[in-house]
Amino acid sequence: MAPASVRITGWGMYAPERVLTNADLEKLVDTSDEWIRSRTGIRERRVAAPHESTATLAAVAGKRAIAVAGLAPDDIDLILVATLTPDYWMPSTAALVKEAIGNRTAAAMDVMAACSGFVYAYATADSFVRSGMYRNVLVCGAELLTRFLDFSDRNTCILFGDGAGAVVVSASDEPGGGMGGLELTTDPDGAYMIWLPSGGSRSPVSGETVRRGEHFIRMEGRETYRFATKTLATSALKAIERAGWTLDQIDLVIPHQANIRIIESVAKGLGMSMDKMFVNVDRYGNTSAASVGIALAEAVDSGRIKVGDRIVFVAFGAGFTSGAVALEWTADPLNGRRAASVEPVASVRAPLDWDSVDPMPPRLMAVLESGPPVPLDDVVPGEPEHARVP
Ligand SMILES: CC(C)(COP(=O)(O)OP(=O)(O)OC[C@H]1O[C@@H](n2cnc3c(N)ncnc32)[C@H](O)[C@@H]1OP(=O)(O)O)[C@@H](O)C(=O)NCCC(=O)NCCS
Repeated sequence: MAPASVRITGWGMYAPERVLTNADLEKLVDTSDEWIRSRTGIRERRVAAPHESTATLAAVAGKRAIAVAGLAPDDIDLILVATLTPDYWMPSTAALVKEAIGNRTAAAMDVMAACSGFVYAYATADSFVRSGMYRNVLVCGAELLTRFLDFSDRNTCILFGDGAGAVVVSASDEPGGGMGGLELTTDPDGAYMIWLPSGGSRSPVSGETVRRGEHFIRMEGRETYRFATKTLATSALKAIERAGWTLDQIDLVIPHQANIRIIESVAKGLGMSMDKMFVNVDRYGNTSAASVGIALAEAVDSGRIKVGDRIVFVAFGAGFTSGAVALEWTADPLNGRRAASVEPVASVRAPLDWDSVDPMPPRLMAVLESGPPVPLDDVVPGEPEHARVP
């Protein structure tokens, strides 16, 4: 039976412990902390440990979201994992997350829409619950991008980081709240603006593809930037209009955390001040499909969202995809405290007769092993500084 409404009941995030600062990256490529901060707003990002994988990151965030929702793992009917850095091509990362969170009953599948993945997966979850098919869907956005980066390419390796965010989307017997408006787009003209050439049917992995470095993410930065600034405000506006709301009724926008200048241009495009934009790109870099989920969890837990607030998720990414959701927040933010009961560990059963090669990129490992991260003396926790367009 179709529910009276569909609401977010749980949220959670996980960021690996290890920090990689801009100063660390200066040791790897011809770049500088000043360049990275002024062009992107990023100060540092996280790097997953060798024993972690995309599924374990998603599982910790997912377990936290389930605890916050006050549910048990078996209450989840469907697990969606948005990622462009899966553990394997098959099985799905969602199948591994199902085992890692201790769920025995749910269906599980991955959603691939690159950095828009969290918004696409959220929209998918909402549809399943709205139709009456499922009552509780776990949506995880999780990425382990540092294993897909060329740490000799300064155009890409400075931008991305690892992490996971999750929400539980639930049926409610109370009317009102939840998603009011949705906009999803895909523009294949941008298909090769951010892409990973080898490993698929077009170019299976071989010694030659590895020699060419085709197993790493490639990006046309300026074109991607142009697309992002064009699409984000438009997508957000469409979702807000579909909800029947006006811009001045929006309390907080949670944009994909790719670049502070892009976020500033969304604010400008919407005619909103930056204090209505949630920003944490300075501390995590671009975590792709995880970024909106991580930002949402931090926004709720830091008191930026209260019951009745109208918020917008908006993202763009490879494809080119973009998506926006306008929703009314209904959950008690204090429920976020329940996440503290979840340990920051998860494990995925290893195959019986196979072991992976060392998953850590050697160049990155050399820097990580050279000592603790270089502290940045001007970082004020919880108060990201906004970079300025030079
Ligand atoms: C990547 C990005 C930060 C580059 O900033 P930019 O202001 O556009 O910089 P440009 O690409 O014009 O490069 C300017 C110069 O800096 C250089 N440069 C690029 N990366 C650099 C780095 N890490 N450190 C120092 N210099 C760098 C370029 O080589 C270029 O040099 P040149 O003028 O001698 O050719 C920006 O284009 C961007 O954020 N694009 C969107 C990327 C994104 O969001 N991707 C994920 C999508 S989900």
